[in-house]
Amino acid sequence: MPGIVLLGAQWGDEGKGKVTDLLADDMHMVVRYQGGNNAGHTIICEGRILKLHLIPSGILYPHIVSVVGNGVVVNPRVILEEMENLRSLGISTDNLRISCNAHLILPCHEVLDGLSDDARGGGGLGTTRRGIGPAYADKAMRVGLRAEDLLERGVLREKAESLFREKNRVIVSIYGGEPLDVRRELERLEEQAEALRPFITDTSHLVREALSEGRNVLFEGAQGTLLDLDHGTYPYVTSSNPTAGGVCTGSGAGPRDLDEIIGVAKAYLTRVGEGPFPTEQDNEVGSAMQEKGREFGTTTGRKRRCGWLDLVLLRYAVRVNTLTALAVTKLDVLSQFDRLKICVAYRRKGRPMKDRPASSAAFRECEPVYEEMPGWGCDISGVTRLEELPGEARRYLEFIQDAAGVPVKIISVGPDRSQTIMVDGEVRTPRQGRFLFQDDLPL
Ligand code: IMP
Repeated sequence: MPGIVLLGAQWGDEGKGKVTDLLADDMHMVVRYQGGNNAGHTIICEGRILKLHLIPSGILYPHIVSVVGNGVVVNPRVILEEMENLRSLGISTDNLRISCNAHLILPCHEVLDGLSDDARGGGGLGTTRRGIGPAYADKAMRVGLRAEDLLERGVLREKAESLFREKNRVIVSIYGGEPLDVRRELERLEEQAEALRPFITDTSHLVREALSEGRNVLFEGAQGTLLDLDHGTYPYVTSSNPTAGGVCTGSGAGPRDLDEIIGVAKAYLTRVGEGPFPTEQDNEVGSAMQEKGREFGTTTGRKRRCGWLDLVLLRYAVRVNTLTALAVTKLDVLSQFDRLKICVAYRRKGRPMKDRPASSAAFRECEPVYEEMPGWGCDISGVTRLEELPGEARRYLEFIQDAAGVPVKIISVGPDRSQTIMVDGEVRTPRQGRFLFQDDLPL
């Protein structure tokens, strides 16, 4: 007991970072099980901004063991930078563990991500260009380097050299790109290996041990259900499995270890990059959501596309993850609207549909069927108890809960930890009150 999963129920950026922080006090271990530095949390710590893309935010708390699981793709340069940034803020990285089975993102993967997305022309996926797809492709092809290779000097040089040379051939002859300097890349990787070696271990043992001892382990998902390689809106997805199934393959825990599976969903919906989005509001409603919800990725400045909440997709997320509860975030962003729309079904070629259609082409043609509800017309960003929410806001949440068939247990009404309603309890004062979690930020 208990393995708790916290994952995105939408297209990512749901505000998982803040919810992780709320649960952190009770956790012994936080485990990332998929994805790479294509997502992350921004944390404000004593006036300084700290971005964590790979290292679980549990690292901020000295009582937590932070695990980068085997399902994650690790860019050695990025993880070392994050470790350095943490240390410069006086935060120890001694409790970090990296799975020996985690695959590595190397410079050739980053280059190929950009080249291959560009080569698709207008049909590009709009990836984050962090090398995620190419690294997972090498994993599936069984040619990738893993963290375990960093442990063995001789093996590393041989494997890396052969991989770099092969990737250079692809970069040059298929895409007409600039080859990487193999000697320099090898030297760099050897230096990185030296620095990372003490942190690499078989983390599946650690996870098992913690669960067997009855300690609380939080499995933290990146991205969201609709970006899942298998269950998302393919091909406009990422290359890993953010859904609950990914927890087991990406950490070494077993299906019976998962006691609670919490899906985090915004009170509306956003999406970054390309792909169908039936409830998208490419108009003043969407702009108002973008503005109030600060729906921008700070690094690239990419705007998130915004729209009304889609209950067809939310029910789907409940089903494929067997969610046990929901955390609804950014409810305060909807305070500005007199009337709210919520998508309860689709219509395609005049025919109503309760569920997502089987083909992506049909999904593109789905039009939302909305239920309209009155807004609450007042600021709710200071509300900390469910009873204090205006009746309209409570009805909006009840509507979501009824449609989803699982309880809404956490409601967020602002970025601060105090701006939270815990439906069955209270927000406790953290052991470590130094951090303010901003939203999940895509790159
Ligand atoms: P990739 O993960 O970089 O391969 O990008 C694939 C798709 O997933 C693109 O549409 C990205 O914008 C999207 N994506 C990846 N990570 C995130 C995230 O953390 N939040 C939102 N979208 C993401």
